[in-house]
Amino acid sequence: MSQPLLTLDFLDTPAAPAATADHQPAQDVRVSPATRTGRQRKLYIESYGCQMNFSDSEIVSSILFEEGFDTTEQLSDADLVLLNTCSIREKAEQTVRMRLSQINSHKKRNPGLLVGVLGCMAERLKSKFLEEEKLVDLVVGPDAYRDLPNLIREVDGGQKAVNVLLSRDETYADITPVRLNSNGITAFVSIMRGCDNMCSFCVVPFTRGRERSRDAHSIVQECRDLVAQGYKEVTLLGQNVDSYKWTSEDGQEFVNFAQLLERVALISPELRVRFSTSHPKDITDEVLYTMGKYENICKYIHLPAQSGNSRVLKLMNRTYDRPWYEERVQAIRRILGDDCAISTDMISGFCSETEEEHQETLTLIDFVQYDMGYNFFYSERPGTLAARKLADDVPLEVKKRRLQEVIDRQQLHARARYARMVGRVHRVLVEGRSKRSEEQLSGRNSQNQVVIFPKGTAQKGDYVNVLVTSTTGAALLGEIV
Ligand code: SAH
Ligand code: SF4
Ligand code: F3S
Repeated sequence: MSQPLLTLDFLDTPAAPAATADHQPAQDVRVSPATRTGRQRKLYIESYGCQMNFSDSEIVSSILFEEGFDTTEQLSDADLVLLNTCSIREKAEQTVRMRLSQINSHKKRNPGLLVGVLGCMAERLKSKFLEEEKLVDLVVGPDAYRDLPNLIREVDGGQKAVNVLLSRDETYADITPVRLNSNGITAFVSIMRGCDNMCSFCVVPFTRGRERSRDAHSIVQECRDLVAQGYKEVTLLGQNVDSYKWTSEDGQEFVNFAQLLERVALISPELRVRFSTSHPKDITDEVLYTMGKYENICKYIHLPAQSGNSRVLKLMNRTYDRPWYEERVQAIRRILGDDCAISTDMISGFCSETEEEHQETLTLIDFVQYDMGYNFFYSERPGTLAARKLADDVPLEVKKRRLQEVIDRQQLHARARYARMVGRVHRVLVEGRSKRSEEQLSGRNSQNQVVIFPKGTAQKGDYVNVLVTSTTGAALLGEIV
């Protein structure tokens, strides 16, 4: 999968992909589970990429539900197949192309089937998609989902349909997502769209458009509704949540991210609040103090560094340097203590990165002692600043070797971070049955670490105190006390 905005362990999500043997979706794809209300047509939707896409698929399902579509988990049952795609790295696009060719062979046997491509690849390739993939009927970018009913009518009328207009104000604030990617306990809430940051390697500003923040009241209302439905955790989503800013139409009310976080935390002490992604240049002490003030705001920050070397960071146009990043980490430690978990994304082998500069990424990993890392080798994306101005000159084998060193170093620290949790009692939100055994439950602690324990009388959605007795290095094991 492409880089998630936040580490979420979907170990126990019931929405296991259910595809027929010859139409198995690739791994790390989310197939939306069935809704059964007797609508006339059936929608099969697969989502790739980040949580933003998974969240968008819930909005798309909601829009199409109003149009008479139920979702199905079976491609073979579908009248309409939608792939919600990702462009972040070349491999993400290749995965989608491969999946499309499988779906196209299915379509040849079922000529009435409609096939649409949504999301970032749709936005990047636009109508070129229809030339390249002749069997695709529909290409719709991330800001044009409200137009889906019209576009589907065009396709029903025998035409191909494209809408890839980006918007400056679309936030889908008024659309209540159909919660497809959910276990009934945890939900994503999108708080902003787009990105204005122009990191030189990144395609997102091109595929997602300008940054815009969603109405604070609609966010709080959505979270309240979730609580009323029994949800226990929300994850506030944005490419750069720390630059959230919303002003009411009359100009009387201004809300920044710290204030939004506080409003959501105040809804209920029983509601856990997570968020992702934090940009190191924007995360403020105010946000950290707000996290410290509320027990129910989880002590976990995804703070992608990308590199540990200041020259490379400058080439990446990240707008911070290593000392700045280290200072932000020290602020987290100062304000929230050593227990606050921190994770990162790192890119190995960016344009002109030297061996010494790569070493600095390793020393940054040692400095921070990350709990978790999502690490990639650089993949040039057409149209980005780096593709236009910089040579992609680190050989693939070197990129891969450096990446492996980053992963290995990161895992050392992750294991140590898990190990230091042994012998302590953790408050865990039970998310469901453990994958391994009927008798075990699985949940996460505030730090986003997976905790597994014998079920006793606890149930999904309960908070339990678990004494952790050992660790596998990727999960904590213990028992309820
Ligand atoms: N908004 C987030 C990142 C979203 S993209 C942030 O600024 O941190 C998720 C991750 O994908 C990035 O953090 C980066 O590590 C990785 N990524 C993005 N473009 C990439 C590219 N061209 N090659 C390799 N990795 C890339
Ligand atoms: Fe991409 Fe940078 Fe925006 Fe993140 S902040 S989405 S890496 S441009
Ligand atoms: Fe997300 Fe991939 Fe688009 S990471 S924003 S789906 S390019």
